[in-house]
Amino acid sequence: MQTITSISQLRKLLDNHRMAEQSIGVIPTMGNLHAGHMMLVKAAIQSCSFVISTIFVNPLQFGPNEDITAYPRTLNEDKKKLDIAGCNCLFAPSVEEIYGFDPSKSTVIQVPGISELHCGKSRPGHFEGVATVVSKLFNIIRPDRAFFGLKDYQQYLLIKQLVKDLVFEIEIIGIEIERESDGLAVSSRNAYLTAEEREIAPFLYACLNDVATAILNNDRDYRRLEKEGLQKLQEAGFHPDYFSICHAETLQSANAKDDSIVLLAAVTLGSCRLIDNLRIKIA
Ligand code: PAJ
Repeated sequence: MQTITSISQLRKLLDNHRMAEQSIGVIPTMGNLHAGHMMLVKAAIQSCSFVISTIFVNPLQFGPNEDITAYPRTLNEDKKKLDIAGCNCLFAPSVEEIYGFDPSKSTVIQVPGISELHCGKSRPGHFEGVATVVSKLFNIIRPDRAFFGLKDYQQYLLIKQLVKDLVFEIEIIGIEIERESDGLAVSSRNAYLTAEEREIAPFLYACLNDVATAILNNDRDYRRLEKEGLQKLQEAGFHPDYFSICHAETLQSANAKDDSIVLLAAVTLGSCRLIDNLRIKIA
C-alpha cells in the first residue's frame, strides 16, 4: 500500500486511475483504526476498484475544551491494518498541507439545520470543522463513493446534505455500527474507560434497545419515553447529554405519525463522551 502526504502527488496518482476508468472509493478517518473503521474499508474494497483511506486529525473539529494533542495517533499500526485489509492507498497529510499555516483562517463550510441539533448543540463548531475537512478531501480526491459509519449518524446525515447542497458527484454509503459482543459500539474512546466504566458502558445500547422495544410495542408517547430514557441512563451511572427520539432524516423530534425513527443518545462516562443510536421502521 502506498502512503502519500502531498495533495499534488495524490492528484497525479488518482488522475491515472481515473483515466483507467477505475472507480475510486474513500474512507475518511482520524486514524487509531479499529474494527469499526475496518468495516468501512472492507465495504469500499468490495465496491470500488481503487480504495483510499485518509488519516487526518482535523484541528477544526475540536472545540477549545477538547484536547487535540491527546487524540491517539498510531500511524504505523494503522498502516499495517490497511495494508492487510487490501487498501490501495493511504493519504495522511499534515495540518499545513490541508490548511496552510493557520487553520483558523480557513474558509469554512456550514451545513444549516442538522448541524445545530444534538451533538451540534454540545460541541459548537464541531460539524463546521467536519464539513470543511470532508469538502476539502472530496475536492482533492474526487471519489465516486465515500464511506461513513452510521455510528456517527448525525455526521452521516450532515455529509449527505453537504453533498446534495454543494452538488458533489459522490455517492455516500452508510455502514452499520460495529459493536463489541456486549453491544457497546466500537470506538477509540472505549480504551479510556476504567474497568468499572467498561462494565457500565454497554448499558447505553441496552437502554436504546429497551426504548425501541417500547416503541415497537406501540408506545408513541415519545416525550415521556425520552424522559424515562434519560433517567435510566442517569441511574446506570452516565451523565447524559441527550436522549432523543427523532425523525430519521431530519433529526427533528419525532411525532407519532413518523414511520422512520432514530433514537440518538450521547453521554459522558468518566472522562469519555460516548454516542450511540438505533434506527427503527414502524410498519
Ligand atoms: P473517525 O472518528 O476516525 O471515524 C471515521 C469513520 O469511522 C466515521 O465515518 C465513523 O462513523 C466510522 N466509525 C467509527 N466507529 C464506528 C463503528 N463502531 N462502526 C462503524 N463505523 C464506525 O468521524 C471521523 O473520524 C471524522 O469526523 C471525519 C469524518 C474523518 C472528519 O474528520
